Amino acid sequence: MEIIKDIKGMQQRAKALFREGKTIGFVPTMGALHEGHLSLVSRSVKENDITVVSIFVNPTQFGPSEDLDRYPRDIEGDMKKLQAAGVDILFLPDVNDVYPEGYRTYVTVEELSTKLCGEFRPGHFRGVATVVTKLFNIVRPDRAYFGQKDYQQSVIIRRMTEDLNFDIQIVVCPTVREDDGLAMSSRNLYLSSEERKAATVIYKTLSEAKKRLARGESFRKIKEFMQESILSVPYVKQLQYASVYHPETLDDITDEDVNIYKGKKVLLAVAVVMDSARLIDNMLVDL
Ligand code: PAF
Repeated sequence: MEIIKDIKGMQQRAKALFREGKTIGFVPTMGALHEGHLSLVSRSVKENDITVVSIFVNPTQFGPSEDLDRYPRDIEGDMKKLQAAGVDILFLPDVNDVYPEGYRTYVTVEELSTKLCGEFRPGHFRGVATVVTKLFNIVRPDRAYFGQKDYQQSVIIRRMTEDLNFDIQIVVCPTVREDDGLAMSSRNLYLSSEERKAATVIYKTLSEAKKRLARGESFRKIKEFMQESILSVPYVKQLQYASVYHPETLDDITDEDVNIYKGKKVLLAVAVVMDSARLIDNMLVDL
């Protein structure tokens, strides 16, 4: 596996690969890699001649009171996993090269960035959209891979890709879960063993809400159930949102709209602040 640290070097390598007619699959990450990331890598390896993975803990997507400093980092372990997964190039840019002195340009995907997580993490999606734009311009991929666990992020990146005419196919891969259903996330490492047990309520709640949707229960009742269910376990400090949403606009949907959604998909999504980590999860459900 080739390791490239400088931006110009990565751009030149990407141009050379393009001239050779090779397709590039790209998996942007912040490291602390788990099976979820590796599922994106394995899909990219199957679908492209060359797979590039970036590891960059992007400061602009963290709020001032968030976990940038303690975000898990394990570069040695990550490199072993990527090597074993058949990655061709690991791109490891330095924060001072990505955001040099005088940096002033940001990308904002309007409306979508202020809903759901955006309401509780102001500026988060501006940071994500900015760094992903920069990485797309550096790596020049044909396809880029994201996990469904960060559903809102994937909707925003699709919108941005279309709006800014990036000639890149956005591939969203299914959420990878632990045996008890907890969605894999680098932040699960923050959880104590008691919190880890309590956190299984998220998947249980989403699965039960899915069943209730299939039985035709009202959106109002399902929303009530989701909130009660999550708030019934210990270590939940704050339930930020739990409801049924339009999968593209991310608007909360009400029972008046039920006929519009017959035969279509709706999004069940949850964000919970536990004592030591903020966790999100979602399910797309056919009505
Ligand atoms: O999903 C992530 O890990 C990050 O938000 C991303 C896409 C790598 C941008 O920093």
